Amino acid sequence: MTTADPGTTRPLALVTGASSGIGLELARSLARRGYDLVVAAEDAELHAAAAELEREGTTVAAVQVDLTVPGDVERLWDAVVASGRSVDVVALNAGAGVGGAFAETDLAAELGIIQLNCASTVHLAKRAVQAMTARGEGRVLVTSSLAARVPSAHQAVYAGTKAFVHDFAQSIGAELDGSGVTVTAFMPGPTHSEFFDRAGLTDTKLGASDAKDDPAQVAEQAVEALLEGKDHVVTGSLATKVSGALGALTPDRLGARLQGKAAEPGSAPG
Ligand SMILES: NC(=O)c1ccc[n+]([C@@H]2O[C@H](COP(=O)([O-])OP(=O)(O)OC[C@H]3O[C@@H](n4cnc5c(N)ncnc54)[C@H](OP(=O)(O)O)[C@@H]3O)[C@@H](O)[C@H]2O)c1
Repeated sequence: MTTADPGTTRPLALVTGASSGIGLELARSLARRGYDLVVAAEDAELHAAAAELEREGTTVAAVQVDLTVPGDVERLWDAVVASGRSVDVVALNAGAGVGGAFAETDLAAELGIIQLNCASTVHLAKRAVQAMTARGEGRVLVTSSLAARVPSAHQAVYAGTKAFVHDFAQSIGAELDGSGVTVTAFMPGPTHSEFFDRAGLTDTKLGASDAKDDPAQVAEQAVEALLEGKDHVVTGSLATKVSGALGALTPDRLGARLQGKAAEPGSAPG
């Protein structure tokens, strides 16, 4: 980890969930645009990711935190403040899923993803928005999902958390109109990452499908939208965008059933 220089004129970005998948690519995209980074994740692999990001010629501070723990969320923000620098971009991206039938899934795991996906996002957004509104500038990215617009059987709690963060991002974004602070809801469709393995979805049609988007591509599209101050961005291929648009038009219960077929345990072909 390189110590950030408080006297630097380079912009600073905080990215959560930056050790793998979409978050690592968000951090890489910001590094290539000249941002120094504070990156956060739970496991020690974060330090390897930070070393990789430093090769982009940027300064990276890695903060290992369990964002399901409010004290760790605060410790992460304290690390940003301790850098002595204003934070220009905050990407609230860390998140996880739980697949399976709600009657059978583990309650502790589901309460954990509510804490991670929803509570830590609100907690860090509070700190970031207060700091940014005081300065009259800043950009916040909230990783939502296409799942925010379509409920899903067999991912009931996960889909609910994404609907929550999506609405939350849109609501605070509306409050902040004209303030110089923007909030962008980032809506990836299925994207190659560790998400499906961690959520126990590898034996599902959704998890096994190769037709997923490239995390580098979706991150690049998200960072462009973030820096343009867009209110939301649906990322990925044309097929993902079309499926997202159709999903949003589908009646909720039908959408939940259709999505649920792809996420049904054992639905992976062959
Ligand atoms: N992949 C998709 O198809 C897809 C689609 C729509 C939305 N999303 C969203 O995209 C975001 C990134 O997911 P991904 O697909 O890139 O999955 P991923 O590769 O599993 O990355 C998840 C990231 O979150 C971090 N994280 C998980 N639990 C944490 C905790 N308790 N405390 C701190 N950090 C934690 C992980 O770090 P550790 O390894 O240290 O735990 C990792 O850096 C999530 O919000 C997800 O809901 C993904």
